[in-house]
Amino acid sequence: MMRAACLLAGVALIAACGEVPLNKAGRDDAAAAVPPTWSALYATHCAGCHGADGTLGPARPMRDAAYLATVPRNRLIEVVAAGQGVLMPALAQSKGGAVPDADLVRLVDGMLAEWGKSGKALAVAWSGPLGDASRGATTYATFCQTCHGAADGRTPGTRGSVSDPNYLRLVSDQALRSAILFGRADLGGTCNGPYPGQATNRALRADEVSDVVAFLAARRPSIGRKP
Ligand code: HEC
Ligand code: HEC
Repeated sequence: MMRAACLLAGVALIAACGEVPLNKAGRDDAAAAVPPTWSALYATHCAGCHGADGTLGPARPMRDAAYLATVPRNRLIEVVAAGQGVLMPALAQSKGGAVPDADLVRLVDGMLAEWGKSGKALAVAWSGPLGDASRGATTYATFCQTCHGAADGRTPGTRGSVSDPNYLRLVSDQALRSAILFGRADLGGTCNGPYPGQATNRALRADEVSDVVAFLAARRPSIGRKP
């Protein structure tokens, strides 16, 4: 009993002594010498929106190998630096954000190395032009409606609406396109086939993706900020 108490006191003493040389200045020097790891940067700057381990956040998952294999690295860096739409903030110091640009590049490279491993790029490119909205209406009804409901809101789907104008005011065309291409695997969502009720089990062609995005974009109210 006595020995345990002495031991504990000793440990406390050592711990206390250990603190002495680490004055404030010493700590700052140490922090400056060791740059934060990409995962620490992710936890600080991204996790709140893109999820604690890259999934299950309000914004799309970053831990998605196919996604990371499809988006060109320079575009990934651009989005992270300058933001996207109304909800993704510009983070780079060079764009008015708080994070040194070099840290963001390291963060993106960390994500690519860890979460992008063995990812296979999709045949359809991550970004693309808007297509034809009226063709998109038909494509939406054929491929999306069973899950997301009729665009006029009259026939509900098995999942939430993605054609609600208020939802569309908050999401950019690119976010819609990325959702179609990559879904939300973390929420059990595959939006790029296989499609319920379709005889052919295929993913959408590039022109079909562009048409559906144009259709949804056209449903956005013109008032308010443009995403
Ligand atoms: C305040 C919440 C928030 C933070 C913080 C945030 N994001 Fe985002 N991010 C979003 C939202 C919301 C979108 C979709 C915006 C849109 O296009 O409408 C997005 C979009 C993106 C996209 C493009 C997705 C697409 O459409 O293909 C990438 C890449 C991305 N974020 C990476 C990051 C990384 C990496 C970080 C940390 C350095 C980060 N984000 C921090 C909310 C956030
Ligand atoms: C088999 C069902 C299914 C089909 C078909 C489907 N989706 Fe989805 N989609 C989901 C699920 C599940 C989610 C995750 C969110 C949820 O649970 O509602 C989702 C999410 C989305 C999101 C929101 C992503 C986000 O992070 O906010 C959009 C936009 C979307 N889908 C568009 C489409 C479009 C456009 C089509 C047609 C090309 C389509 N989806 C086809 C099941 C489907």
